[in-house]
Amino acid sequence: MNITETMTSQQLMQLEDKYGAHNYHPLPVVLSRGEGAFVWDVEGTRYYDFLSAYSAVNQGHCHPRIVNAMIGQASTLTLTSRAFYNDALGPYEEYITEYFGYDKVLPMNTGAEGDETAIKLCRKWAYEKKGIPENEAKIIVCEGNFHGRTVTAISMSTDPDARNGFGPYTPGFVTIPYNDIPALEAALEDPHVAGFLVEPIQGEAGVFVPDEGYISNAYNLCKEKNVLFIADEVQTGLARTGKLLACDHENIKPDILILGKALSGGVYPISAVLADDEVMLTIQPGQHGSTFGGNPIAAKIAVAALQVLKDEDLAKKADYLGKIFRDEMKKMNSDLVTSVRGKGLLNAIVIKPKNGREAWDVCVTMKENGVLAKPTHQHIIRFAPPLVITEEQMMDAIKRIKESI
Ligand SMILES: Cc1ncc(COP(=O)(O)O)c(C=O)c1O
Repeated sequence: MNITETMTSQQLMQLEDKYGAHNYHPLPVVLSRGEGAFVWDVEGTRYYDFLSAYSAVNQGHCHPRIVNAMIGQASTLTLTSRAFYNDALGPYEEYITEYFGYDKVLPMNTGAEGDETAIKLCRKWAYEKKGIPENEAKIIVCEGNFHGRTVTAISMSTDPDARNGFGPYTPGFVTIPYNDIPALEAALEDPHVAGFLVEPIQGEAGVFVPDEGYISNAYNLCKEKNVLFIADEVQTGLARTGKLLACDHENIKPDILILGKALSGGVYPISAVLADDEVMLTIQPGQHGSTFGGNPIAAKIAVAALQVLKDEDLAKKADYLGKIFRDEMKKMNSDLVTSVRGKGLLNAIVIKPKNGREAWDVCVTMKENGVLAKPTHQHIIRFAPPLVITEEQMMDAIKRIKESI
């Protein structure tokens, strides 16, 4: 018998605490199974998953088409490295580039690697195409951004928890306030600026939705100055906000698009960077790569995950159910909730601490009522269920959330 089958939640949490690094502070629930919008703990209690592994599980837990794609390839050929060709990568590259309308894709594994790849591409393009002097290229980023946990990603961050104690930092970034067009306009005056890296909605910062027109205005300003518009859609992309990409809300096509998370439906780490030839072909053999990037399992999974988004019309569903969710939250009229915001099924409520109770305590109570969500920063709770959640399940979950609050 597998030893974990006889262990309680308490024992399993103690194991993680004793033997694992303390770089996370999980809600006290130990999950052992998932299906669609639901997960179950080791004692068999069922919960609605309103985090979806930070929007990686948009297609729902253990989607059979995605899992089957993985199993089929896992028993055939798992990894060749890019030293050789494999028979799954080319068809995937054709599929994803046609799906999003780009000339080329560069496959990686994690979201942070996607951002790193985009930064390297932008810098290479700056030197080879724009004519910025070597080592002088700058990339504009926004306050409150989240682009991952690598040294370069935290060098762009303004979050003290993410940054402090991990310097020295990667140079070459200019930070401006988010959702501030005049600040962007001023920063773009510097002729050494090569790119503007932005999340169309800031997810980790607490689901900050910029003003309508911000993304398209920012894109147009970048075009005027021959600066690459780089969209980090690792969290907002792939139907989460009610469109295939959050940039689609403003009908712009980024020069560089970064995807991750739901590109695998949550079964495997898969990320991708998409761009046209002028940008992508600046990187030559030997200048970038990853042992696992573009492996045959990832290729098959990503195709299945993208097909599911379209076949199940998940963007439309996210749009429809998201409106219901926000309406219901606004109707609640609780003095604990100071604001409700979001787009599609990427939403958040802001909690006003009361009698020493904070967002964390609300999440613990919701867990007791069968809904899992996690605070992002101290006072914000993000609600991002799998997009396959049905309307009936959504109404049931809303009832439990309201009761908890
Ligand atoms: C916008 C954005 N970019 C990048 C990342 C990093 O992705 P990963 O954790 O897969 O490295 C995240 C993760 O939350 C994200 O939300």
